[in-house]
Parts: sequence; structure tokens; C-alpha cells
Amino acid sequence: MNLLSAKNLSHTFEYELFSDISLDLNEKDSVAIIGVSGSGKSTLLHILSTLLISDYGSVSLFGEEIAKMNKKRLAQIKRDSLGLVFQSHYLFKGFSALENLEVAAMLSEQDINDELLKRLNIYEAINQKVTELSGGQQQRVSIARVLTKQPRILFVDEPTGNLDKSTANEVMDIFFEYLENKSAAMVLVTHDEELAFKCKKVYRLENKKLLVVK
Ligand SMILES: Nc1ncnc2c1ncn2[C@@H]1O[C@H](COP(=O)(O)OP(=O)(O)O)[C@@H](O)[C@H]1O
Ligand SMILES: [Mg+2]
Repeated sequence: MNLLSAKNLSHTFEYELFSDISLDLNEKDSVAIIGVSGSGKSTLLHILSTLLISDYGSVSLFGEEIAKMNKKRLAQIKRDSLGLVFQSHYLFKGFSALENLEVAAMLSEQDINDELLKRLNIYEAINQKVTELSGGQQQRVSIARVLTKQPRILFVDEPTGNLDKSTANEVMDIFFEYLENKSAAMVLVTHDEELAFKCKKVYRLENKKLLVVK
């Protein structure tokens, strides 16, 4: 089943970042996008995840074109089906890690998975305030939060920037198991090629195009 279909995307800020890019995501797909800093990877991810509207082209989620959805429908899809793991994690700073997870669990009517917290090594720190946690811990809490929602599509931007290698590998394993178990899909943006090559497909954003690497 097709979860996301992007067609002919073009986008310009001060200069044209990319033009005529198309991308499809099916169940259990993992797609990595690599490219040098400034090539437009994050911008493309923002467009695919509905945070930004491209100058040209279309994005469809679960067969529905987002430009044709009303605000309520788009908000519903975002809340229920899209999971965003971005560099700025937007955790609620005044709250504990657990309270952050509880919000996600409540909104999506899902349960917090203790096993997941243990694997992410945040189980012991779960009652601490977000501001008391290290950057790496905050990153892992934001990963736990997004998986608690059980989204169909994960959009992940440099998810392991604050993590050591073994934790980064564990996070990737958790993502891949999640995709298999939930028939979900993931778009991962990273400059780390080793991480990228763990995905089924790898593209490089270069010279305004997505080139097939794997
Ligand atoms: N909101 C914005 N307004 C203007 N320029 C932007 C904006 N977001 C990104 N850019 C510019 O677009 C280019 C690509 O940025 P980005 O998509 O973050 O690249 P990457 O993630 O590959 O490093 C950069 O030159 C950046 O300064
Ligand atoms: Mg970026």
C-alpha cells in the first residue's frame, strides 16, 4: 500500500534547492536521503511531512493530496499518522520526560511501552524534568514520544546527532522493528552515510535532484 507519494516537487529560498523531485513510500519502506549540508534535505523533509508547502508539485498521504484536504483533515492526519523526529525536538520543557510521553499517549489513545523506554535507556530518568536531561537523553525521549503515537510514517532528521554509535545503532534497530511490526514507513535525513545505508533505499540530494544511491 502506498503511504506517501510526492510528485514533481520544486522549492526555492534564496536559490532553487531542488526541482522536479518525486518520491514514493510504501509500507515497510525505509528511505534515507543523504547530501551535503545546505543541499535542502531538511527542507524536503519539511515538505514531505506537511510542515512546508512546496512552490511546485504535490504530496499525497494515504492517497489524499494534502493541498486538497481541509485544515481539520490535515490536522487529523498529522496527529494520528505522522511522526516527526527533528533536530529541535519540541519537548515540553517545563514537564518531565514521562509527562511528555503521557501527552502523546493520551492524544493517540496508546499506552506507554516500558520495554521501549528501557531499550532507549531512559526508563530510570523518566521522572526528571526535560531541562535536567542531557541532549542525548532528550533526543531519546523525543524518539520514545513519537513511537508512542504509533504513526504510519516516520520523518526523521539527523536522529542520532547527540548519540554515541552503539545507541545510534540501537535507535535504528528500534525504528526498523517498528516499521516491520506496524507496516509503517520512514524517511530518514542524515549526513551519516553509514546510518543511511541501513535503510532499504538511499538517495543523494545533489544538483537539485534525488539520485539513486541504493
Ligand atoms: N525558512 C527558510 N528561509 C530561507 N532559507 C532557508 C529556510 N530554510 C532553509 N533555508 C536555506 O535553504 C538551504 C538548504 O537548507 P536545509 O534544507 O536546511 O539543508 P540541509 O538540511 O541539507 O542542510 C540553506 O541554504 C538554508 O539556509
Ligand atoms: Mg538539515
